[in-house]
Amino acid sequence: MLLDEKVTENEIEGMVRLFLENVKSGIWRSQGWPAVWTDYAVSKLALNGHSKIMAKLFKGRELSVNCFCPGFTQTSMTGGKGKYTSQAAAEVATCIVLLPPEKLLTGKFYVGSTPGVYSNHLHCLVVHEKMRRAKT
Ligand SMILES: NC(=O)c1ccc[n+]([C@@H]2O[C@H](COP(=O)([O-])OP(=O)(O)OC[C@H]3O[C@@H](n4cnc5c(N)ncnc54)[C@H](OP(=O)(O)O)[C@@H]3O)[C@@H](O)[C@H]2O)c1
Repeated sequence: MLLDEKVTENEIEGMVRLFLENVKSGIWRSQGWPAVWTDYAVSKLALNGHSKIMAKLFKGRELSVNCFCPGFTQTSMTGGKGKYTSQAAAEVATCIVLLPPEKLLTGKFYVGSTPGVYSNHLHCLVVHEKMRRAKT
């Protein structure tokens, strides 16, 4: 889905609906959904899909929309476990957001500070307003 340049909001919502229906009817295990971190993975797939659509929507309108994976980070979500401190992860996210407009890509999935392709991993949404940065 994330590799499809023409993915639509309806397709993403349809995927989420199907997942919820499969869970409600108790058949999700046999339907090919990720076996590990299932709900998390599906929610991230939807998030990444929507960010891709938003990136397209705002292309040429001085907005960049990207996803960012900080790596395994010590936060509430991980019960304080993780390779990185939350401060270090926040610093990487801040560096991406503050990239000069000509260096900040859009529609990308940043692993740390490296822009890559989408995968079915996890991610925060990073939205950067190039116009505002360019003017300040
Ligand atoms: N930690 C990691 O290793 C890691 C790795 C990769 C990606 N991520 C992603 O990074 C993001 C942040 O994760 P985190 O580790 O910082 O988690 P966290 O410590 O649990 O923080 C989650 C934050 O989201 C807020 N939140 C939760 N539900 C919300 C809602 N419905 N509306 C508004 N705010 C809501 C929480 O607010 P309250 O405090 O008010 O509840 C909290 O501030 C998540 O998307 C996660 O999947 C985390």
